[in-house]
Amino acid sequence: MYQKKDGAYREAKSQGYRARSALKLKQIHNKFRILKSGTTVIDIGASPGGWTQVAAEKVGPGGKVIAVDIVDMEPLDMENVTFIKGDIMDEHTIERIREIAGEVTSVISDMAPKTTGIADLDRGRSAILASMALEVARKTLKPGGIFLTKIFQSAESEELFLEMKQEFAYTKRFRPPSTRKRSVEMYLIGKGFRMPAHEQGLEDEHQSESP
Ligand SMILES: C[S@@+](CC[C@H](N)C(=O)[O-])C[C@H]1O[C@@H](n2cnc3c(N)ncnc32)[C@H](O)[C@@H]1O
Repeated sequence: MYQKKDGAYREAKSQGYRARSALKLKQIHNKFRILKSGTTVIDIGASPGGWTQVAAEKVGPGGKVIAVDIVDMEPLDMENVTFIKGDIMDEHTIERIREIAGEVTSVISDMAPKTTGIADLDRGRSAILASMALEVARKTLKPGGIFLTKIFQSAESEELFLEMKQEFAYTKRFRPPSTRKRSVEMYLIGKGFRMPAHEQGLEDEHQSESP
C-alpha cells in the first residue's frame, strides 16, 4: 500500500504505522474527533492496516475495531481488533459484521477501487464503494453515531454528500493536508446520525413485542 517513499511515508513508518494513510486518519481525527475511547469502530477497506492501528489506539482496550477488507490483512498484535475478510458489496459480509458488532459508534471507510486510469469509471466505482459504506453505517450505527468515507471528487460524491446531510446533524467535506496535490481523493464526514424514521418505528415495534 505504500506508494512513493515520500516524507509522509517515512513519518508513518517511523511512528510504527503500516501505511501513510494512518497519518491522514490522524489528521481527520484531530480535526473532527471521530474515534471515541471505549467504543466500537467498523473500519472498511482496512488492509494493510494503518487506519486499523490508529483506530485501535484511539478506542483503547475497552473498545473494539472490526476491520474488513476483500484482501487479507497481516494480523495486528492488538487484542481489540477483529479482521473479517470479505467483499462489502456482498450482503453476507455485512451480516458477519452485524453478528459481532453490537453497538457501533463510528463507521469509517478508506475503500478505493483498483484504478483503471479512466477517470469517469474510477470516480463511479469510488462512489459505489462509498455509498455501500454509508449503507453499512445505516445498518449498524447507533443514533448520534459517526461516519467517515473516502470518495473521489465527482458529481456522485456531491449526491452522496446531499444524502448524508439528511441523515447526520453535522456534515463536512475534507481533504487532509497530507493528500497528494494531484489526487482526486477527499473524505466525507457525518456526525450525529439520525436513525431513519421508519427504522425507529421498527425498533419501537420490536421493543413493545419483547416481554
Ligand atoms: C487505500 S486502501 C486502504 C488503506 C488502509 N485504510 C490503511 O490505512 O492501511 C483501500 C482498500 O480498500 C479495499 N477494498 C476495495 N474494494 C473493496 C470491497 N468491495 N470490499 C472490501 N474492501 C475493499 C482494498 O482491498 C484496499 O485494501
